[in-house]
Amino acid sequence: MIMLGLESSCDETAVALLQAEGDNVRTLSSQVYTQHKEHLDYGGVVPEIAARAHLEKFPPLIEAALKEANLTYNDIDAIAACTGPGLNGGLMMAMMFGKSLAVSLDKPFYATNHLEGHTLMARLSEKLDFPFLMLLVSGGHCQFIAAEALGQYRIIGGTIDDAIGECFDKTARLMGLGYPGGPAVDRLAQQGNPKAFKLPLPLRHEGIDFSFSGLKTAVRTLVEKHQPLTDEVKADICASLQFAITKLLSIKAERALEMVGMNQLVISGGVAANRSLREQLAQMCAARGAAFFAPPISLCTDNAVMIAYAALLRAQKGHPGDSLDANIRVRWPVEELR
Ligand code: KG4
Ligand code: ZN
Repeated sequence: MIMLGLESSCDETAVALLQAEGDNVRTLSSQVYTQHKEHLDYGGVVPEIAARAHLEKFPPLIEAALKEANLTYNDIDAIAACTGPGLNGGLMMAMMFGKSLAVSLDKPFYATNHLEGHTLMARLSEKLDFPFLMLLVSGGHCQFIAAEALGQYRIIGGTIDDAIGECFDKTARLMGLGYPGGPAVDRLAQQGNPKAFKLPLPLRHEGIDFSFSGLKTAVRTLVEKHQPLTDEVKADICASLQFAITKLLSIKAERALEMVGMNQLVISGGVAANRSLREQLAQMCAARGAAFFAPPISLCTDNAVMIAYAALLRAQKGHPGDSLDANIRVRWPVEELR
């Protein structure tokens, strides 16, 4: 079976082709266009600009994927499009391209949840079995998902205000480090002293929810106090912020593992690219005898392999596809699948 996946929920336009023969799943092509330059001047994703860019990028990316896989449209057996959660205009693009292809090729259409896609990636890359605890950390999300079986996910905790990626991006913007901020903060932090500034660890002692707004404010205050910023202070702020975030996530992840009684932790989402976060979580898991999985970074950030894969697993379980009446869902908790 050949599944085409389409993803455009935020600022990545992505197309993938997967081939499944039983349990053996191969990625024939994964095309990702990241709209950094479109949003650079704004310091964040502008929904209108994102939607227009997806509209322009899908046709050449679909062609490129078919070419790389050495296939034609007629070889596609089913089409999966990410229909939520995400930005309204972007989601519509994947959905409309997906439905149009499904109608013209007379093949099933799978309306696919972005968060389920992220959650399942470690099954593909690390052959991980259920159950496992997923820590999803991206520009739009920060949540713990207990994955019990295919289609059975429970959100057990998460941010009560901003997403974690925003915390990196806004800090970077304050210091003029460009967009997206995470990689820049990660890079600069390597040269700074993580103990230079003591930042708060919000909700450190309570439960497994996160709050990042206080941390953001504390960074803003630091930046204002140290004007004009030297390169050294910038590096120290980045290192201190990264230290605080990493520590907080590690404390909460350990508590979450205990809460659900699981011994497998998976990390995904764009922020999972952060080196210090990966190291800390790996250490915490090793210390408690749990297994830690971090898919390759290209599968942690937004991609269409995850969309095609989530649909493929449903199809293999006998799901015939979704109705063409299926609509986008800007908010679509992973607990509310099918
Ligand atoms: O998953 P993603 O590609 O897009 C969605 O939000 O769905 O995540 C993007 C986020 C951005 O906020 C970016 O700054 C952050 O991931 N990010 C990082 C790193 N690389 C990307 N944050 C911290 N450290 C990194 N190395
Ligand atoms: Zn994502």
